[in-house]
Amino acid sequence: MCGIFAYQGEKTDVANLIFSGLKSLEYRGYDSWGILVKKNNNAFYLKRQVGKIKEEKLPPIFSTEGFGHTRWATHGGVFEKNTHPHFDSQKQIFVVHNGIIENFNQLKQELIKKGHIFTSETDTEVLPHLAEELRKKTNDRLKIIKEIIKKIQGLNAVIFYFLNDSEFYAFKNSSPIVVGKNHDGIFLASDASALAPYINKVYFLDDGEILVIKEKNLSLFDKNGKPKKINFINLNYKVEDTLGGYKHFMIKEINEQPKVLKTIVDTQEQNLKKAANLIKKSYGSCFIGCGSAYYASLTGTYFFSKIAKRHINAAVASEFSYLADFLKETSLVIPLSQSGETIDVISSIKKAKEKKAKTLALTNVLGSTLYRLADEKLLLLAGPEKCVLSTKSFTAKLAFLYLLAHILNGTFKKGQENLKKAIKEVEKIINEREKIKKLASFLKNKEHIFILGRGVSYPVALESALKIKESSYIHAEGFPAGELKHGVIALIEKETPVIVYNPVDETYEDTLSSAYEVSARGAYVIGISSKNNSVYHQFFQIEDCADATTIPNVVFAQLLGYYMTLARGLDPDKPRNLAKSVTVK
Ligand code: F6R
Repeated sequence: MCGIFAYQGEKTDVANLIFSGLKSLEYRGYDSWGILVKKNNNAFYLKRQVGKIKEEKLPPIFSTEGFGHTRWATHGGVFEKNTHPHFDSQKQIFVVHNGIIENFNQLKQELIKKGHIFTSETDTEVLPHLAEELRKKTNDRLKIIKEIIKKIQGLNAVIFYFLNDSEFYAFKNSSPIVVGKNHDGIFLASDASALAPYINKVYFLDDGEILVIKEKNLSLFDKNGKPKKINFINLNYKVEDTLGGYKHFMIKEINEQPKVLKTIVDTQEQNLKKAANLIKKSYGSCFIGCGSAYYASLTGTYFFSKIAKRHINAAVASEFSYLADFLKETSLVIPLSQSGETIDVISSIKKAKEKKAKTLALTNVLGSTLYRLADEKLLLLAGPEKCVLSTKSFTAKLAFLYLLAHILNGTFKKGQENLKKAIKEVEKIINEREKIKKLASFLKNKEHIFILGRGVSYPVALESALKIKESSYIHAEGFPAGELKHGVIALIEKETPVIVYNPVDETYEDTLSSAYEVSARGAYVIGISSKNNSVYHQFFQIEDCADATTIPNVVFAQLLGYYMTLARGLDPDKPRNLAKSVTVK
């Protein structure tokens, strides 16, 4: 979602520096962007544009400070007037902002009554106007910012830039802001990965703190304006944003899965043992996640029940606060999040902490908000995921949860063995891409695709449907095969494609019956199983690896989604309306 990049220092073509910073944040998803830099004599260069950032550079402009923003529209359409930076009436105070100011309308009405004229439909624009209004009473900028923090509601990350004073003020509530300094300047961003090419020590702002950049110096204040020491930490972030010969990040990341899974299988026993002890001590635990991470959570509930004979809940993070009344000190909340920044996950973990429950995070990003908030953490070790769609981070989550269930059951070795078999099946299905490509081209103009699975294959069906719809924009839906007769079967007609996940486990016979039922109504049945059957019009063989079969099964759908997207001439890395890191509610 929205991204922020700011700089003050010795460099002299800051517009292009910020431009590159914004490019590195592109993967978060955005629909417009803007840059402001200060030129000589308090003049400025402001560029705001709808659409994607092009490859070419900006014209060189002498400047040593400025900031930029990639916008993912929430309040107000995708128009130039709504892009950031926003400014006050005098174009003296500029602001970039991630998040939502929930009480913006009330603030805006008050400002309009005082004569302020707004030029955008955004919530953000109230910020520079508020500062302008407060400045009538005082020129103490720290005081102004403290006052604004008190006035605004919502989860936000904000940077103010006072042009004439050459000062930046940054603060946040939940949404991240990270700062770093090197020999030639100070860098601020919404995402540590954007800073990684320039610096190796960073500081993640805490909620309520105010960071000031002035005359190439940094200072930090608590919410009462009391100075604080900045404790920088090492940023161990490998910048890996090249395609390495692949056409898209999606296919690169799909192909990286065997390596990621092998690392997890070989290195995580001790970390998983610690996590298992925490789970054993808890009473009433719950996985939470959004989108794919929720489907991984749901898969985890089957793993825990089947393998570890333990009950655990799974909740969609945006619903968690309505379900959280059961939490107490002995509860354990296990949030799953690739980015570690998904706002609904962050709000849920805050809720859990309010109730004094313990938290154990599974995240891919070291230093992310989730990583910093959770009591205990497991890093997914999937490496940077650039494609907006989750692929390797999803299967990494499954591998962790699968091994965790086996550790709880005292059968870690068995879990390792099954996962190793699953990795071989992943390699095999990747090698069958030509056959999947043909299926993709057959499915590319279909209106609907249905996906069936029972037991642990049910969340696999949900994740598969999500992969297909978000990449190819074809309607796909996953169902528990047993639910078919309770409604969905009404949608099956001649040639409706139905993918059936049918590993040879306790669900096999019943799922096969469902395949017969849809076939009898004219469906085109695509079977994914270790065992072929005449009911399948097309068959993909995936050997059984106990419940770890979920992993190659999902990889099949990832590849299908990828090739359907290409067949439809779409960009799999940046699907419309989607963002990699969903930092607003
Ligand atoms: C689907 C997808 C999303 C994310 C969801 C949560 O391909 O990528 O559904 O899984 O937005 O993101 P994280 O895991 O970063 O919390």
